[in-house]
Amino acid sequence: MPKALVAYFSRTGHTKKMAERIAASLRAHDLETDLRAVGTVAVSDLLHYEAIILGSPTYYGTMSWEVKKLLDDSVKYHGRLRGRVGGAFTSSGNRAGGNETTVLDILKALMIHGMVIQGDHQGDHYGPAAVGAADARALKSCDRYGERLAALTLKLFPGLKN
Ligand SMILES: Cc1cc2nc3c(=O)[nH]c(=O)nc-3n(C[C@H](O)[C@H](O)[C@H](O)COP(=O)(O)O)c2cc1C
Repeated sequence: MPKALVAYFSRTGHTKKMAERIAASLRAHDLETDLRAVGTVAVSDLLHYEAIILGSPTYYGTMSWEVKKLLDDSVKYHGRLRGRVGGAFTSSGNRAGGNETTVLDILKALMIHGMVIQGDHQGDHYGPAAVGAADARALKSCDRYGERLAALTLKLFPGLKN
């Protein structure tokens, strides 16, 4: 069975709440999912997942260094994540405070790994973004993201299905 990792950094809990919501949605849509704080993820762990979804608060318009560190360390496995599903989400303090650039910065790194990224024609186009604590709209975006990425992962890795 394919597996997903939702890894997040969160200082005040907003991004963590989104991570929990996305993980719950992935599970509800039949994808076995681990939810972990990014600091507990060893870079070699990434090899065990068919979908890797990273969340960070928006810090100066981009991801926190903890998330960037995992990505920089992942160069050790450059090429080994090719074809797997990637995703990103964020919480920022302000509505136009750099949340989209944060999501895109994470997605860029995942694309450099050769991972498969799915945009959305509705709602949050690049990945879920909340302002502060996720409101009803942002929670819905997390639910929808989990549903869509679970479907994509199960489609791309049917051989691993039970
Ligand atoms: C070091 C630092 C930098 C930040 N930079 C930004 C920023 O560029 N734009 C923004 O909108 N909010 C910024 N914020 C606010 C956080 O993105 C916001 O509080 C977020 O909800 C925190 O998420 P968390 O609860 O998961 O830690 C910053 C906060 C900190 C501590």
